[in-house]
Amino acid sequence: MTEEVIVEVSGGIQTIRFNRLDKKNALTRPMYDRVIEALLAGDDATQVAAHVFLGGNGVFTAGNDIGDFARHDGKPRDLSSGAPGLIRLLPSVRKPMIAAVDGLAVGIGTTMLFHCDLVFASPRASLRTPFVDLGLVPEAGSSMLAPLRMGQQRAFELLCLGEPFDGQRACEAGLVNHVVPSDELEAATMKAAARLALKPPGALAASRRLLRGDPSALLAQIEKETEIFAERLASGEAKEAFSAFLEKRQPDFSQFRKQA
Ligand code: COA
Repeated sequence: MTEEVIVEVSGGIQTIRFNRLDKKNALTRPMYDRVIEALLAGDDATQVAAHVFLGGNGVFTAGNDIGDFARHDGKPRDLSSGAPGLIRLLPSVRKPMIAAVDGLAVGIGTTMLFHCDLVFASPRASLRTPFVDLGLVPEAGSSMLAPLRMGQQRAFELLCLGEPFDGQRACEAGLVNHVVPSDELEAATMKAAARLALKPPGALAASRRLLRGDPSALLAQIEKETEIFAERLASGEAKEAFSAFLEKRQPDFSQFRKQA
């Protein structure tokens, strides 16, 4: 069976590649669990100095699998695995995280980038977070990190209007370090990772901790987002949005106007 997340370690770098190409790399629970496992193992491994996230076929990831969202039954979720598990882990990963974003980066494909230390993107990168369109709210700490990083109005445009940001716009907004042509993207990303892998690990880790500061406010915001996200997942609006996507039709939210 094809591995939907391919993890490899070489030259001090752990690559984590999303590889569910027929579904635009949409992330399922087992895929999140594989990413969690790789990050935890890589953080503890002397062979790993940095983690690199990659996509394939011109797609980073189409975000959470909507079928998985639709199957959510409204009961409390296990917060240590799947998407909630990865979201909780990202702020406490100890080694640098780098991402190469070519093409689509939807939902968590964009919000995870706020936790990365370096992000390289191609001009055709399309970062989008259609949370509101899906009846949901922003996650992974993005409701705090996005306004801090790019200012309130650009954050609103990305997170609430759901406007796609291409590589250049994301670079101007401070979410991407460099825009690199698609065919040079992975090489440029790996070159930066290789530079990090040569640095004294103690100094790098201490510097990274200083730059990131105290994560407690971010973790508290993630808890708040997670609670509201879970409520929203069970809402009529979200159910309508998921059904519409799976049935390949436009959603109709008119019946919910009275409750808003
Ligand atoms: N969850 C589940 N399946 C997904 C998916 C997702 N997030 N994103 C894409 N897919 C599936 C499609 O259903 C389709 O499956 P099919 O071939 O069995 O019909 C396949 O991947 C290809 O996607 P398609 O929609 O045909 O590609 P596209 O290039 O026209 O559009 C997207 C790509 C990503 C813009 C579109 O698929 C989309 O909007 N996906 C949902 C993204 C999303 O809302 N993610 C959650 C964020 S919180």
